[in-house]
Amino acid sequence: ELDFENITLDQHGAIAVLTVNRPKALNALNGETLGEIVQALDLIAENAEIGALIVTGAGEKAFVAGADISELNALDGVYAGREVSLSGQDVMTQISNLPIPVIAAVNGFALGGGLELALACDVRVAAPSARMGLPEVTLGLIPGFGGTQRLARLIGAGRALDLMLTARQVKADEALSLGLVNYVADDPLSKSREIAETMLKNAPIALSLVKEAVRRGLNTDLDAGLEIEADLFGMAVATSDFREGTGAFLAKRPAQFKGE
Ligand code: CAA
Repeated sequence: ELDFENITLDQHGAIAVLTVNRPKALNALNGETLGEIVQALDLIAENAEIGALIVTGAGEKAFVAGADISELNALDGVYAGREVSLSGQDVMTQISNLPIPVIAAVNGFALGGGLELALACDVRVAAPSARMGLPEVTLGLIPGFGGTQRLARLIGAGRALDLMLTARQVKADEALSLGLVNYVADDPLSKSREIAETMLKNAPIALSLVKEAVRRGLNTDLDAGLEIEADLFGMAVATSDFREGTGAFLAKRPAQFKGE
């Protein structure tokens, strides 16, 4: 437990839980909070014991209600706006690039930068109370922490454009049918832990290679993506966990992965 102001970082065995905790602003992401998230990501990346990360928001009401609108209101000029977007995008990209599975446990409002935070995660679990949307156009803005790109890649341009142009909020059931979330659960944090435990049974390097293959493949065309896949498949075959996993299957015993 570290002395962060706006987040908490806890570890339960191999699972880290990063909780955005800024109750006075429904967990909105101001610059200080984004800075603390980056510090937490550095700690997670350095800690070899941690095999999965859950991102959530404190309290019942909100996951994260967006970027901090009072900070945004003080912005003036093209350059300042662009810089805020680039630095927020960078935080989301660092989350997405973590070599371990990252699960968003979405309680309550996940709007604007809050939905963008959830979109940077690998899997999303929504509470029935979740309300998700990208309302930036109601503020004369556009999503700036990766939302225009990640939402369109996740659910398709047509569905993403509908959500961004109407600024409407979707509830958990619609989010599930859009493919915006993977699961709806009464207790999204405990469901996220369950999913993380399932993932943690698998070979850790393979998990990181799957993430890398999907992420890099989405940035390119099919032929280049298939080459990336073959390269990373080769890297998997070079691990001792591959020997262990296939050997254990053939010996009809459970595999014991070491992350090597
Ligand atoms: N930034 C700063 N403060 C926020 C905030 C935000 N994104 N969202 C909520 N708050 C604050 C409110 O100002 C309020 O503060 P006070 O008590 O000091 O007045 C407190 O949190 C509670 O919020 P409400 O009184 O508004 O609560 P509500 O239940 O009436 O409404 C809500 C809840 C619908 C989520 C509403 O708070 C809301 O619409 N929030 C803003 C959502 C939004 O537009 N997010 C996008 C931000 S822009 C962005 O994220 C840009 C980007 O892509 C990077």
